[in-house]
Amino acid sequence: MKEPIICPVCKQTLEFGEKTAFCKNGHSFDRSKEGSVNLIINGSPSAGDDPLMAAARKRFLGAGYYSHLLSALKDSVRTSVFDGCTVIDACCGEGYFTNGLQNEFPESQFYGFDLSKRALRYAARDSRKALFFSANISSVPVKDGAADILFHIFAPVNEKEFSRILAPDGVLIHVFPGENHLMGIKRLLYEKPRKNDENSGLSNTFEKISSKKISKKIFLDGQSLRDLITMTPYFYRTPKDRIDAAMAVSAASTETEFIIEIRKKAR
Ligand SMILES: C[S@@+](CC[C@H](N)C(=O)[O-])C[C@H]1O[C@@H](n2cnc3c(N)ncnc32)[C@H](O)[C@@H]1O
Ligand SMILES: [Zn+2]
Repeated sequence: MKEPIICPVCKQTLEFGEKTAFCKNGHSFDRSKEGSVNLIINGSPSAGDDPLMAAARKRFLGAGYYSHLLSALKDSVRTSVFDGCTVIDACCGEGYFTNGLQNEFPESQFYGFDLSKRALRYAARDSRKALFFSANISSVPVKDGAADILFHIFAPVNEKEFSRILAPDGVLIHVFPGENHLMGIKRLLYEKPRKNDENSGLSNTFEKISSKKISKKIFLDGQSLRDLITMTPYFYRTPKDRIDAAMAVSAASTETEFIIEIRKKAR
């Protein structure tokens, strides 16, 4: 099997054992009891999503509110995936999409990375086959050109690293919010909610092959509403009195709108 993950110290191939991940030069990295591996060696200026956000997203996604996106991603990947395919999920969070896709395509090997240790522990705990490690998107311990498919779902972009790790004919599957995404939540939080810019944040380095929009209205009970607010950037950006008022609402509905772009490296 291809081993695409490299030792962050010496850049040699890293193998995943039961308790550690290790390279032939004797560098060894402990696996958490859930199985994720910490590959950040020089510390990181940020820690990714905090435990509160990670727990909220874990509950919210686990309740199936974004299962329509998962189904659409399975359809998108069906034409690109092949036996022995290496798939990297950049900023995988709690692994809802990584594990959901891995289970659908068991002949491929999925790897997810994120900065949030709590999110990775959830991801690894629920994994049947996918492997998870902590890394910063600015420096990903993956071999050049190793990713046949690279997922990037609702997360920070780093084109240079995407371009380095994606195989020459590899496929980048990029998901970002449509203009009306979560408008129902914004109406609860803001006097004058604004639409999102439908901007992928990617340049022509990656040629767009296709783009589609997935929309669905979702209906939330009080707990799911609180989880959804907590897992979004609005949670820390919005005045506390507005957050408290929105969190006290017992039921709500909102549009969800996802844009799925398929891209390849421009030649
Ligand atoms: C909105 S969440 C999306 C998670 C997952 N892709 C999903 O859709 O469920 C964004 C994720 O990016 C991670 N993140 C933020 N900055 C990062 C960085 N510099 N490197 C790696 N991960 C990062 C956060 O910890 C968080 O899990
Ligand atoms: Zn090493």
